[in-house]
Amino acid sequence: MSSVRQVNIAIIGAGGVGKCFLSQLVALAQRRPSPKLVLCYISTSKKAVFSDDYSAIGIDNALSALASSSQTPLALSNLVTYLAASGSKTVLVDNTSSTDIADAYPSFLKSGISIVTPNKKAFSGSYKLWQDIFGASAQSGARVFHESSVGAGLPVISTLKDLVETGDEVTKIEGVFSGTMSFLFNSFAPTSGSGGKWSAEVKKAKELGYTEPDPRDDLNGLDVARKLTILARLAGLEVESPTAFPVQSLIPKELESVSSGDEFLEKLPEFDSQMEETKVTAEKEGKVVRFVGSIDVAAKQVKVGLEKFDRSHPIAALKGSDNIISFYTKRYGSNPLIIQGAGAGGEVTAMGVTSDLLKVLAQLS
Ligand SMILES: NC(=O)c1ccc[n+]([C@@H]2O[C@H](COP(=O)([O-])OP(=O)(O)OC[C@H]3O[C@@H](n4cnc5c(N)ncnc54)[C@H](OP(=O)(O)O)[C@@H]3O)[C@@H](O)[C@H]2O)c1
Repeated sequence: MSSVRQVNIAIIGAGGVGKCFLSQLVALAQRRPSPKLVLCYISTSKKAVFSDDYSAIGIDNALSALASSSQTPLALSNLVTYLAASGSKTVLVDNTSSTDIADAYPSFLKSGISIVTPNKKAFSGSYKLWQDIFGASAQSGARVFHESSVGAGLPVISTLKDLVETGDEVTKIEGVFSGTMSFLFNSFAPTSGSGGKWSAEVKKAKELGYTEPDPRDDLNGLDVARKLTILARLAGLEVESPTAFPVQSLIPKELESVSSGDEFLEKLPEFDSQMEETKVTAEKEGKVVRFVGSIDVAAKQVKVGLEKFDRSHPIAALKGSDNIISFYTKRYGSNPLIIQGAGAGGEVTAMGVTSDLLKVLAQLS
């Protein structure tokens, strides 16, 4: 049994994922009375709740305490000092997509504060930041887990780590890593039927809430490139950044600089013929087109973009906005280990964060 009797929790971010995480934390604290989980700090970008003596904030009413609080968030360097002085083991839960917070991970870890997060920024930033993060963790013994940074709650990162750490040889990783791109291509180029016009599918995806407010933030491929960067590094490749390998953008050149997402959507129909041609070329070969990321580990090649797949291929047969990730390894031979399911959504993403917290709790002694 653990000798640690109390673990302090600090949460930054209470949006879609943060809110779900809080409700999972309420249930976790009830299910596992030891070690006692004490929420000592919570903030959004403008508000915070904390006290000098680290008094427990009620987890179940943390959101209302935050809403009515007049406290502002601590500067990150002050937050490190504040948490490090609590006298208890502490876990920082970063439920934001902030680059500033990601850049501060080495400071938190050096001070013995563990981190769990769905935020991709730290692990897909510069390779130096990656080394600093894991170097600081190794030095202080503080833990860092980021399962939900790829495929939300799907066990993608833990599976890859298990494959590597048990001595399997991962030769290739391939998949659909974006719920938005999955939804778009499953409707634009379905395995049966003809699908809609590209611009109409993008508009529909935006109306259904599947895209970022400006769909160009999905169509530029950078989100997928960030996820591939993380997986490539875990597979042993020293990828410098998400722009260090070929990433195909689906934004027509002429629309890269239009001022708003709305103007982009308005003008997109003028460029439908480009995507239609890609679709028809694939159809003539009996295939469908999909937006995928792949890592050829032996050749040290990472790429993101459009590929053609036979209609019977698991990537072609994906439904809705699901993600699919195939691991080709020496042990699994020609039939890859495949992970498939929802790759977005508050509850499933928060599940990955909560399960990371459980891993930290199990390892704290
Ligand atoms: N939603 C998903 O399906 C999903 C799936 C996989 C991974 N993720 C990742 O999970 C993270 C959270 O996503 P989300 O959907 O919950 O985002 P969200 O709804 O936009 O919420 C973000 C939260 O973080 C806060 N925040 C942002 N920058 C901050 C800063 N510098 N300091 C303090 N608080 C800050 C925001 O506060 P304000 O409201 O005050 O700005 C808000 O409470 C992101 O990294 C995202 O990529 C999400």
